[in-house]
Amino acid sequence: MWHGAGVSNDYLDVNRASWDERAPAHARSADYGLERFVSDPTFLSDVVRFDLPRLGDLAGMRGVHLQCHIGTDTISLSRLGARMTGLDFSPAALQEARSLVARTGDDVDFVQSDVYSALDVLEREAYDLVFTGIGALCWLPDVRRWADVVSALLRPGGRLFIREGHPMLWALDEERDDDLLLVRYPYFETAEPLVFEDEGTYVDTDATFVHNVTHSWNHGLGEIVTSLLDAGLQVTALEEHDSVPWNALPGAMRLEDGGEYRLAERPDRLAASYTLQARKPDSQVIPR
Ligand SMILES: C[S@@+](CC[C@H](N)C(=O)[O-])C[C@H]1O[C@@H](n2cnc3c(N)ncnc32)[C@H](O)[C@@H]1O
Repeated sequence: MWHGAGVSNDYLDVNRASWDERAPAHARSADYGLERFVSDPTFLSDVVRFDLPRLGDLAGMRGVHLQCHIGTDTISLSRLGARMTGLDFSPAALQEARSLVARTGDDVDFVQSDVYSALDVLEREAYDLVFTGIGALCWLPDVRRWADVVSALLRPGGRLFIREGHPMLWALDEERDDDLLLVRYPYFETAEPLVFEDEGTYVDTDATFVHNVTHSWNHGLGEIVTSLLDAGLQVTALEEHDSVPWNALPGAMRLEDGGEYRLAERPDRLAASYTLQARKPDSQVIPR
């Protein structure tokens, strides 16, 4: 349920309480399927598998996964050869991530921080790869501040890889019971958050929750691209997809192979997600 915009200075506490409660339920859910990571050391998350053709060779890269949640995508990137660190502000999510790697044996570090404070806990200009997405940007009020953090983390020549829900998808009414797509929420970034109250979560679970209020923001595709350009990155690829790896419009979407959800009727109406890549230019050699 959407309550309309309301000003809040405590979005971090409000959102962290919601994520802290949901992380253990996510770790137990069949949707995240943690046992598959334990039983098969080559298993990759659907999210990472979707982008395998675009990710390329990660062997030896030093990577950071911003908003890593319970670590399934972080572990998957590590299994492709990158030395990964996951960052998240939720201690409960990180506890699940750490206990998962303790069981799988994957060599992955996890650090706790708000994204905007990432430089307090991670080395500046040290990463070949910054990876993020799938419900990450919507928790941040200012996309330009995020882009500055990404740029500061990347070493010259390093790259950002993001697969994220499309801002057009985030703007849609997800509570319709017909197959029409109705624009209900802002497409562009707004100063004030969208304040939602939701007793559930995006996975199938019988867990019950008490911290149900969240504060979130949309960011238009142009705003995202421009924030990266202004932060000094070169956008090298931008692909829009008609599918998304969670049931974003319940009732209107159908689960297909590979864990992707697509509109059941005329999926060509909607860009549901996108993959964007950007590169930090090599250091400039200043001629004498
Ligand atoms: C939807 S999950 C990301 C999903 C992830 N791609 C996955 O499925 O594993 C969003 C994550 O962002 C984290 N988060 C939200 N706001 C944050 C912030 N300001 N700083 C750091 N982490 C944040 C939450 O704790 C949560 O783990």
